[in-house]
Amino acid sequence: MSAVVVIGTQWGDEGKGKIVDYLAEKADVVVRYQGGNNAGHTVVVNGKEFKLHLLPSGILYKEKICIVGNGVVIDPEVLLKEINGMKEKGIDTSGLKISNRAHVIMPYHRLLDAVEEEYRGDFKLGTTKRGIGPCYMDKNAREGIRVVDLMDEEDFCAKLERNLEAKNHLLKAVYGVEGFDYEAVKKEYLEYANQLRPYVADTATVLNDAISSGQKVLFEGAQATLLDLDHGTYPYVTSSHPIAGGACIGAGIGPTKISKVIGVVKAYTTRVGEGPFPTELKDATGDHIRERGHEYGTTTGRPRRCGWLDAAVVRYAGIISGIDYMAITRLDILDELPVLKLCTGYKYQGQLLKEFPASLKVLAKVEPVYEELPGWQTSTSGVRRYEDLPLNARRYIERLSEVAGIKIGIVSVGPGREQTMILHEMF
Ligand code: GDP
Ligand code: IMO
Ligand code: MG
Repeated sequence: MSAVVVIGTQWGDEGKGKIVDYLAEKADVVVRYQGGNNAGHTVVVNGKEFKLHLLPSGILYKEKICIVGNGVVIDPEVLLKEINGMKEKGIDTSGLKISNRAHVIMPYHRLLDAVEEEYRGDFKLGTTKRGIGPCYMDKNAREGIRVVDLMDEEDFCAKLERNLEAKNHLLKAVYGVEGFDYEAVKKEYLEYANQLRPYVADTATVLNDAISSGQKVLFEGAQATLLDLDHGTYPYVTSSHPIAGGACIGAGIGPTKISKVIGVVKAYTTRVGEGPFPTELKDATGDHIRERGHEYGTTTGRPRRCGWLDAAVVRYAGIISGIDYMAITRLDILDELPVLKLCTGYKYQGQLLKEFPASLKVLAKVEPVYEELPGWQTSTSGVRRYEDLPLNARRYIERLSEVAGIKIGIVSVGPGREQTMILHEMF
């Protein structure tokens, strides 16, 4: 049995897409299990760049089954654009399967996301405004519209009518904005339904059958541990469960089926949106990392906040998801720095903290404890064997492994498939 879960260990954009694409070569099935088109996963194949928001990164290989699981929230317009964009590039999308239990993002979710953010003022979360939070809110309030409803015209119309009545009232009365016309939304969404129908399936059955017959399954997390609704830096989080446990709920498999968990770790730290970030660099080094690393959001284009590698965060992610191996990415971005700082823990009011703080007030005030390590100041992007990495680069990631308590499984020194070193086979 081989079911490998790949998750982000920091605040997202660690390079999950690249690692999943790399590992997908050996997989039969690739599954997205949470989030929506707030995710932006960039994959580079033979110098060609693909930006994925909803489709699993396995889509770039022929003859793989790619599942969009029940835990994902689907904006049908975005998904269809992505499918059609792939077809135009000659990518075969016939292996795509969309869960009939996934929830559908509606136009009022997107508008609510925008007006709620405005209403929050100084307390805004910095969401991607893609309607993710409001869609999960409806799911939890048991008012959402699922793919299975969208496929049934009668059910869809009844649910749309009820939802629009409530949402239009809310939009007008609380936020002072116009709502949506029933006929227009109905027409638009029934057209999406027709186009999506061939892909809709009971994906939990497909997946469990695949596992039972010995096929290899890869789960692709979106977002990351510190954006997890329960375990992240709440409320500056997303509304789903990017941790490894989320794969069980968001895809419909038992925890006993997961054979390995891989945590993707960017060799430094970034964050988009609001919320505390203990190792943030608001200086020339932060700017150097942002420019050298092109750290601007794939989804929103916002500049990403950059900082030193925080091993306290990675250690926490390792515990919460039971991570077996780290996949360290973007080591090459640090090639020019003379000295690197690694955060090994936090001090609060003079005391070393034993746990990752739940209180954001505490997290905002902690003092990171740093170890200084010498840089390597040589290019690593052409290195193909771990032993050939500069000694100081190996020392840096080996010290991270020691402090985080997680073994190194993969090291990546560039966006291409060939710029990947495997220290342990994952399948
Ligand atoms: P994701 O959301 O976790 O999939 O990450 P993103 O795609 O948002 O951001 C990661 C970016 O880094 C993408 O543009 C990748 O192509 C790129 N990338 C991944 N691994 C490496 C690496 O080792 N080195 C460099 N230079 N770029 C990488
Ligand atoms: P990938 O999969 C980085 C952040 C947003 C915001 C918070 C809540 O590419 O790593 P939301 O729209 O989800 O309600 O926004 O979460 N966020 C991400 N940050 N990478 C992502 O995805 C993200 N998806 C959401 O910036 O702070
Ligand atoms: Mg991303």
